[in-house]
Amino acid sequence: MIQLIKGFKDVLPGEIEVWQTVERAAKETFENFGFQEIRLPIVEKSELFSRSIGDTTDIVEKEMYTFEDGKRGHVTLRPEATASVVRSYIQHKMYAQDPIRKFYTIGPMFRRERPQKGRYRQFYQIDAEVFGVDSPYLDAQLIFMLATLLERLKAKDVKAHINSLGCPCCRPNFQKALKELLDSKKEHLCENCLRRSEKNPLRVLDCKVPSCREAVKEAPSILDHLCDECRDHFETVKRVLTENGVDYEVDKNLVRGLDYYTRTAFEVLTTSLGAQNAVAGGGRYDGLVKALGGPEIPAIGFAIGFDRLAEIVAMQQTIEATGPTLYIAPLGEKATEAAAHWTMQLAARGISCETDFGGRSLKNHMKRADKLKATHVLMIGDDELEKGQATLRNMTTREQEDLSLDGLVETLAERLK
Ligand code: HAM
Repeated sequence: MIQLIKGFKDVLPGEIEVWQTVERAAKETFENFGFQEIRLPIVEKSELFSRSIGDTTDIVEKEMYTFEDGKRGHVTLRPEATASVVRSYIQHKMYAQDPIRKFYTIGPMFRRERPQKGRYRQFYQIDAEVFGVDSPYLDAQLIFMLATLLERLKAKDVKAHINSLGCPCCRPNFQKALKELLDSKKEHLCENCLRRSEKNPLRVLDCKVPSCREAVKEAPSILDHLCDECRDHFETVKRVLTENGVDYEVDKNLVRGLDYYTRTAFEVLTTSLGAQNAVAGGGRYDGLVKALGGPEIPAIGFAIGFDRLAEIVAMQQTIEATGPTLYIAPLGEKATEAAAHWTMQLAARGISCETDFGGRSLKNHMKRADKLKATHVLMIGDDELEKGQATLRNMTTREQEDLSLDGLVETLAERLK
């Protein structure tokens, strides 16, 4: 038997109901905050990701599914959505009409990571991006929107962690101070971090290796190196979050795994998923639109790990599939043909309806109706068909009533709406 590939998964009925609930809540919440949905391709030119996420990030260095596509050169299964949203914003000159745009997109992402619980090679993100606003109020509003969604989904044990990564004006000073510390701790750093400390020292703050974590405990805080503008920006974000009741924590070592961030960076962490504790992550990326060939337009966004959020929601509430509104139980050949007709007509009128063509006994029909969790059953035999009536049973109250076959579809459509 051919099995699915490790790190990939099927989302089946039983689990999908939670996914649908999460997706509905996300769409509703984002639309309440003025976001519009966009859908983008899963494959993009590899260069889009290396130029935005950064050449020395884990994602670009070792996790991308890249292949050659004839004349198109190297293409990559998208490891995240931000780069594509920015590409689309620039390509369609969306800024020309109105630079302020708010988008969300939901779909699969691909990263060749070591699979484990909560970490997949194909996973889904719910992604939100805003262009054209540099105000810190927006940073706070975006984190508030994320917190609102989590609250609507009754997700417990989640907390926002925030930091500022400064801007091209103040970050180099911090990088210099950090590099000095890392140089003095070389013997404690893992091989990756030794390399990272040369090319991209901020990445070391993100390393999970215990000796590296220990080494960076004494690292300088980026928050002590912010320029006045970045400091004011961060202070406002914190103040507005507090004023609006968002539970957050400042984490000076939060650096994110992608290179495009400036100023506010944030993650929502949970204590209920074990090692894979980040439910969502995001931040400001004011330089990326320009870096990818567009005008100088600020931007900010975040992505929720759909798989992880669905797991958290499933832990806290049971969301079951609803059964059909009506199950038609025909007894005899003619009644079965009539049932086929009524099922199609009722479904077309928006009443979820099921039947069975297999010539079951009434007892077996009732068993099937129970299994499907039908709320009503219409019983009809060849004899009743002759008499021109059928029996409708309410499966909750057990009440029964006879219905005339004249205008039956309309009567049922009206009654079961
Ligand atoms: P990220 O932190 O790489 O950010 O991913 C966001 C979320 O996706 C993570 O917090 C996690 O929940 C989920 N995630 C990431 N990798 C996996 C995986 N292998 N399996 C399951 N879930 C995963 C970004 O992707 C940025 N594009 C976010 C952003 C949007 N920044 C600005 N705008």
